[in-house]
Amino acid sequence: MAVALLVAAGSGERLGAGRPKAFVSLAGRPMLAWSLDAVRAAGIADIVVALPPGEDAPSGTAGVPGGATRSASVRAALAAAPPGDVVVHDAARPLVTPDAFTATLAALADADCAIAAAPVPDTVKEAGADRLVTATLDRSRLWAIQTPQAFRRTALERALAVPDEVLAAATDDAWLVERTGGTVRVVESTPANFKVTTPHDLRIAELLLADRLPPAPAH
Ligand code: CTP
Ligand code: MG
Repeated sequence: MAVALLVAAGSGERLGAGRPKAFVSLAGRPMLAWSLDAVRAAGIADIVVALPPGEDAPSGTAGVPGGATRSASVRAALAAAPPGDVVVHDAARPLVTPDAFTATLAALADADCAIAAAPVPDTVKEAGADRLVTATLDRSRLWAIQTPQAFRRTALERALAVPDEVLAAATDDAWLVERTGGTVRVVESTPANFKVTTPHDLRIAELLLADRLPPAPAH
């Protein structure tokens, strides 16, 4: 059985809500609660949460103090996880659905790592510091990377056994697998699984998640 690592230890600077982002209220519950629902609905019972200072682990999960960077938080959570393959998810993606967990874990059958990703809808160009375009990339080969990211246990352990400065340079854990020679597969996801970064994102998530709540009792 797989283990889920939920990284929730960030401070949420860009959201600017005055408390750690994963614990900000979203459609009536802490943001983290929405991802926890999806993990559990995918049948994953072992859950480790990397926490910011001053916050407690949700009931039924194991909490660990987060690290200085996102991947350091993943490493701290992994150290506390029971045996098994691992799926890492950002608490900042509350719109995740259970099938994203099951699909990425299933794709480990022929890869060391499998990551949720959405096709890129925009044309993407490269430009230099002078803002002159140097290339137009082939959009059919581009993917916007999300979480969940699933890992064979040994591949993630090897990937995270690096100096803190390498961890700090990682914007996702799959890159750490790539640089140690592991195979990484993309699993098509939807742009609806976006990351809440700014107040605008929080508003959109609020509108979408309000539909998932049971109707409020009549007064
Ligand atoms: N995260 C973490 N530990 C850190 C930094 C980030 O567990 N040291 C988690 C966040 O809680 C979030 C996910 O990694 O669920 C993605 O990070 P991001 O969206 O950057 O969240 P924050 O770091 O909280 O936001 P900001 O960068 O705006 O401060
Ligand atoms: Mg951050």
